[in-house]
Amino acid sequence: MKKRKIKKGPKIILILLICLILGIGIISLLPKEKEQKQEPTKEEKLINDMKKISYYRKENKERYLAYQKENDSLSIEEIITQVNIGIDKPYYTNTKPSENLNTNLILVNKYNYVTEDYIPENLEPIDTTYARSGMQLVTDAKYAFEELSQNAKEDGMTILAMSSYRSYDYQVNLYNNYVESDGKEAADTYSARAGYSEHQTGLAVDVYNGVVPYTSFEETEEFIWMQENAYKYGFILRFPKDKTNITGYQYESWHYRYVGKEVAENIHKNNLTLEEYLAKK
Ligand code: DAL
Ligand code: ZN
Repeated sequence: MKKRKIKKGPKIILILLICLILGIGIISLLPKEKEQKQEPTKEEKLINDMKKISYYRKENKERYLAYQKENDSLSIEEIITQVNIGIDKPYYTNTKPSENLNTNLILVNKYNYVTEDYIPENLEPIDTTYARSGMQLVTDAKYAFEELSQNAKEDGMTILAMSSYRSYDYQVNLYNNYVESDGKEAADTYSARAGYSEHQTGLAVDVYNGVVPYTSFEETEEFIWMQENAYKYGFILRFPKDKTNITGYQYESWHYRYVGKEVAENIHKNNLTLEEYLAKK
């Protein structure tokens, strides 16, 4: 009998295929090694929480971490706000030119300066019914202040501007005189160096009641009136008592800053400073 010759090629391929399928099946049934899921570190957790805050700025990440280490009693919001302001660095370091020149939201403080030649546009004299002679503010602030002072008068109050726009050169003399009498360290707590005073913006005004010195303004009924009403005209108390660490200045009950009605109301109602308001934007 003639032996039938079986072709071996296809048979081998078939066997190999079956082995392959069985192999894959077995492997897939084997208990899988536990996926190594690593817990995030404390630092990663902190950053993840920080990233959820709308005013987190990724370029400040390392500074947030360093500042948090030194100030672990502060909330994450406070850490971010304060680093955004620049408080993690010493005053008068890491300074930069102010943005938003000639707007109500210009920020001038110990980290943001205006140049020697900066003179705000639209400076206008304040009517002497409401100010010492020679006082100027930028147009919107001037009219707002005159309205404030007039309405205060109708309520039996006297609120007068005793210092408003100050040029760079004026501030040089003022600051130097304070340094001479009190020393630099003390002067820096209450007087701005030239270029760093918001009086140069034409948006700041120091007030008094025409009777007691401006430094005693806090003790007057006019001060209470200002606390209740200044924001309605677009002014904020710029250096509050409980915010000296934020503003970098001693409490000044007499120094008000025009920011416009909407922003003033927000700042007043949320107990903020201009620094905090801008850092949270
Ligand atoms: N007294 C405020 C800080 C100024 O000099 O501008
Ligand atoms: Zn002032």
